[in-house]
Amino acid sequence: MRSPLLERSHAESLDAADPLAHWRDHFVIRDQRLIYLDGNSLGMTPKRSVAAVLEAVESQWPDDLITSWWKHDWLNLPLTVGDELAPTIGARSGEVVVNESTTVCLFQLVNVALDIPEVAPVIAIADSEFPTDRYVVDGIARLRPDVEVKRGLDDLDGVGVVVRSLVDYRTARLHDLAAETQRAKDAGAITVWDLSHAAGVVPIDLHSSGAELAAGCTYKFLNGGPGSPAFSYVRTELHDQLHQPIQGWFAQRDQFAMDNSFEARPGIAALMNGTPSVIGLTATRAGISLTNEAGIDAIAAKAGALANFALDLAGELDLHCSTERPPASSGGHVSVLHRDAADLQAALADRQIIIDKREPDVLRLGLSPLTTRFTDVFDAMATLSSLLS
Ligand SMILES: Cc1ncc(COP(=O)(O)O)c(C=O)c1O
Repeated sequence: MRSPLLERSHAESLDAADPLAHWRDHFVIRDQRLIYLDGNSLGMTPKRSVAAVLEAVESQWPDDLITSWWKHDWLNLPLTVGDELAPTIGARSGEVVVNESTTVCLFQLVNVALDIPEVAPVIAIADSEFPTDRYVVDGIARLRPDVEVKRGLDDLDGVGVVVRSLVDYRTARLHDLAAETQRAKDAGAITVWDLSHAAGVVPIDLHSSGAELAAGCTYKFLNGGPGSPAFSYVRTELHDQLHQPIQGWFAQRDQFAMDNSFEARPGIAALMNGTPSVIGLTATRAGISLTNEAGIDAIAAKAGALANFALDLAGELDLHCSTERPPASSGGHVSVLHRDAADLQAALADRQIIIDKREPDVLRLGLSPLTTRFTDVFDAMATLSSLLS
């Protein structure tokens, strides 16, 4: 007997019962027939981001020009937006700053970790880690000849700094933040977490998990927009040891005194660098507000339901997935493995189904809970299956 899962009406009933379904109305969606399963790379466009950016460029900037830095508090936007993001990742006020790219944030945080006196100059990172993290670590080792890079995270003996993602970008596997932070601590290491694939889709409690340092992007599940600035988190207890390598004037205690030598601002502001991207931060702020209002627990629950649905369907359709079932893994996408991944991605795009691909054979179906419908997952899986039959 044919499984009821294979009836589109089943997906339609899941959409009808979805308590987050109405959040799609908060996004600019030009064509409701488009199936966009790439919100794990670039979230869709929040209507309120468009309004906020227009307000910044049509009013604040032309009306108030240079005085905007004070009048609209642009000077402190990285800290303001950091405080607004903090609850979604379980950080406290004053522990998060939003600026630069994830790459730069990781560079800063790994250096912060290495400069803590008792930390050994050995960085551990997995071969399978996202490229930018590996490149940053190798670049730091080039700049700091005393630093050694060890590949692999199984044996942390002698390691001072661990760099790793909370959610694997290929498989969507979600690691145990508290247990893995503690395992590193027991070995004498401090972990720099990359939360890029986790923030805005997974409940993260940086504080209760004991996490000390973390960074992540905002353009995926947080819907911050293309190139939106990333975030850095430093646990309060480490703030008095926060010495970072990019000593810009925005991190200077008295920024406009000009003739003084560098003295870092207290707290997380010590991670600021140069003039922040006001327009980018404005869009990011609007995107983050959607997540805050919808609530990360409800978002994560839908991410899990979408992932389960996708995996159930994949089982029925004989598609081979590398993603584990929630709750072990509900990291916001499901990966289907196929050696013709590139051709399949292109064939889906021809049919208005947008997914992404990672070398060599991974098709990622992004499940962005504020915009993804169960029918999107059904249509994408069914089309994929028909392309393969
Ligand atoms: C795990 C991870 N880290 C970092 C990045 C990108 O870093 P950046 O924001 O500097 O481009 C990505 C982008 O997809 C990512 O998936």
